[in-house]
Amino acid sequence: MQELINRLSELEIISSGLEPNAEKRKELLNVLNEYTEAFIEDIDNGKSYFQNDQAINGLEIDGKAHSLKEVLKNFDREVTHRGINPASGGHVGYIPGGGIYTAALADYLADVTNEYSGMYFGSPGAVAIEHEVLNWLKKVFGFPESSIGNLPSGGSIANLIALTAARDHHEVKGTKVERAVIYLSQQVHHCVQKALRIIGLGDVIIRYISLDDGFRLKAEELQQQIEIDKSNDLKPFLVIASAGTTDTGAVDPLNDIADIAQSENLWFHVDAAYGGFFILCAETKHLFQGIERADSLVVDPHKGMFLPYGVGAVLVKNRKAILHSHHYVANYMQDTYLSDTPLNPADVSPELTKHFRALRVWLPLQLHGIDPFIACLDEKLVLTHYFRARLMKEGFEVGPEPDLSVSYFWYPQKEKENEFNKRLMELIHEDGRVFLSSTTINGRFVIRMAILSFRTKKHTIDTAMEMIVGAVKRVMDHGF
Ligand SMILES: Cc1ncc(COP(=O)(O)O)c(C=O)c1O
Repeated sequence: MQELINRLSELEIISSGLEPNAEKRKELLNVLNEYTEAFIEDIDNGKSYFQNDQAINGLEIDGKAHSLKEVLKNFDREVTHRGINPASGGHVGYIPGGGIYTAALADYLADVTNEYSGMYFGSPGAVAIEHEVLNWLKKVFGFPESSIGNLPSGGSIANLIALTAARDHHEVKGTKVERAVIYLSQQVHHCVQKALRIIGLGDVIIRYISLDDGFRLKAEELQQQIEIDKSNDLKPFLVIASAGTTDTGAVDPLNDIADIAQSENLWFHVDAAYGGFFILCAETKHLFQGIERADSLVVDPHKGMFLPYGVGAVLVKNRKAILHSHHYVANYMQDTYLSDTPLNPADVSPELTKHFRALRVWLPLQLHGIDPFIACLDEKLVLTHYFRARLMKEGFEVGPEPDLSVSYFWYPQKEKENEFNKRLMELIHEDGRVFLSSTTINGRFVIRMAILSFRTKKHTIDTAMEMIVGAVKRVMDHGF
């Protein structure tokens, strides 16, 4: 026994390093705060994209203890000064968001308290906060209170959860898979195709419905295709619309699609991961008419609410369908199965243990209220108009008037237009003050702008124009 007690004393001394005392915690926080303050204060002066081909070093785990100052020095060099700076307002490529500070405070609080937000039994308060966020989302999108939701890590997992519910509701399994038909547009985010494979629907028939001039799915063609498929004894069961496509920000005609889905008994899923929160803006609200009729909906707070990466949301109306795959019981969980509790997040998602990510949505809403979020979204729409107007003034061609805040442009050339614009993209990346990304639309290489970071302001667009016009001049003067 004494031997055991001695051993425990030894181990306690060594492991106590994991519990810094109050003084040490203060010191660590001061060091971290000094770093994050400098990071934020410098954000408007620094680059948004860093090209650096040198091998990464200084991040190795060598099993020894290092000071936070030393670690942050390496972190600063190898992490924040490489690739894209997603916190910068100059990030107008892919789909940005920015990462508001109060959400980082929420993460800190969630991590220090480490509330277990998977099961109500473990943390009724944390689960109540998740439900509060979901109920707020239901109100925003006109979903009934009885619908069920979850806050997974992002849009990809949120889509996966929704599509699983669609599959289970229509019992698409076994030999039924090969005759089942899904309708979507070529512009749907690729996480949808990924999810279909993951959930065993890789062999379903996918019908890509053609698009109008604004890259929106043509509802009348959807109806025609369903008729053809039914007459061939196929089984249409799901239509997927986007409320804000990744490439061009297009919102599909949701109400028309809802009419068809309803009359044809199809599950109607809407991926609003990028665009959903523009429902809050007076200018764009009308585009979302019909979203409330969806069977399932995905929206990403880590995009349109400007939160740091790591939180998406899914809402599903059909309780039975969403619980079918995700609700499970296990003996070692028996204490947690109480009657009459709010739904456990673990019953609605592949995750059991989860980060208390509802807090990073809830706390900023508590601290700021909703108005600054709406103003910021309105600002992104106006900035998109401003950017396009300035580009057109400089001789660029721009894509169709966007529904939301993603658009694209290219510099017209009689010959080698794609090569010219590819070179422009390279020069813009080399410069790095503002980060844009590219895509290919109908075989044309175009440069995309996705204005969604809360830090993107008029001066960001002015800098982007300076860069872009400078790059055109360089290619004109020196060739590719
Ligand atoms: C429309 C749309 N859906 C889904 C996703 C995937 O979301 P996530 O990257 O959060 O997994 C994205 C990402 O940009 C998107 O734009």
